[in-house]
Amino acid sequence: MANLTLITGANRGIGLEFCRQYLRHGDTVIACCRHPEQAETLQQLAEQYPSQLELVALELAEPAQFDSLSAYLGERTLDRLILNAGVYGPKGLAFGEYQPEHFELVMRINVAAPMLLTQALAANLGQGSKLALLSSKMGSITDNGSGGSYAYRASKSALNAVGKSLAIDLQARGVAVALLHPGWVQTDMGGPNAWITAEVSVRGMRHVIEQLTLVDSGTFYNYDGTELPW
Ligand SMILES: NC(=O)c1ccc[n+]([C@@H]2O[C@H](COP(=O)([O-])OP(=O)(O)OC[C@H]3O[C@@H](n4cnc5c(N)ncnc54)[C@H](OP(=O)(O)O)[C@@H]3O)[C@@H](O)[C@H]2O)c1
Repeated sequence: MANLTLITGANRGIGLEFCRQYLRHGDTVIACCRHPEQAETLQQLAEQYPSQLELVALELAEPAQFDSLSAYLGERTLDRLILNAGVYGPKGLAFGEYQPEHFELVMRINVAAPMLLTQALAANLGQGSKLALLSSKMGSITDNGSGGSYAYRASKSALNAVGKSLAIDLQARGVAVALLHPGWVQTDMGGPNAWITAEVSVRGMRHVIEQLTLVDSGTFYNYDGTELPW
């Protein structure tokens, strides 16, 4: 039977590329995004892969929608849950300019949403399921050599903490968890000067996800499979 893969932030950037590659691979893909009716490329993919692609509306700032997503999935078990959606938050803020509100959305979308969504979808995860959380090297405290980006860095460090706890809590159910740094990727977030394409990044991360076992669950990986320091 085809693998079942759910992806958040599926309408553009890295999430869209995950959709393309898993569809090409033959998976059934549940592509979640805020406005499926406006997601032109996803609509085109749905025409190209009518029996493989399901489009589902999901606003990560609205946790009530997480239970609706679980209800939509019903008894189905996800082979892969790719929690990719994220926000950078306010750009260009220097030390001295931060206000509490600069942390609110970024912590809600990058930290609380992946944890709460995993919790809501726990019944749809089982033996052999893989959970991939899109983190960032900017969340690595060891790697921080340039400072700044307080909200984004803090959110990805906190996401790493969430992922580690999920790896421990879901171990007995047979669910393996990976924290993934996608590289510096040419997307709206990464910008045009980024080092790699989404195609290269996702190809690498798919390989990491396929290789992931319960033994290395809870590890922080670069897209090329090398381990990153916390
Ligand atoms: N690009 C890089 O170089 C890079 C490096 C390290 C880590 N990352 C991480 O990789 C992931 C994907 O990044 P990307 O470069 O593809 O980013 P992107 O191009 O900015 O795309 C972000 C995606 O997240 C979705 N999203 C944002 N807020 C949402 C919300 N409230 N509810 C539902 N979906 C929401 C966006 O949907 P809308 O279109 O509706 O806004 C979009 O689909 C992120 O977690 C990011 O932090 C990226």
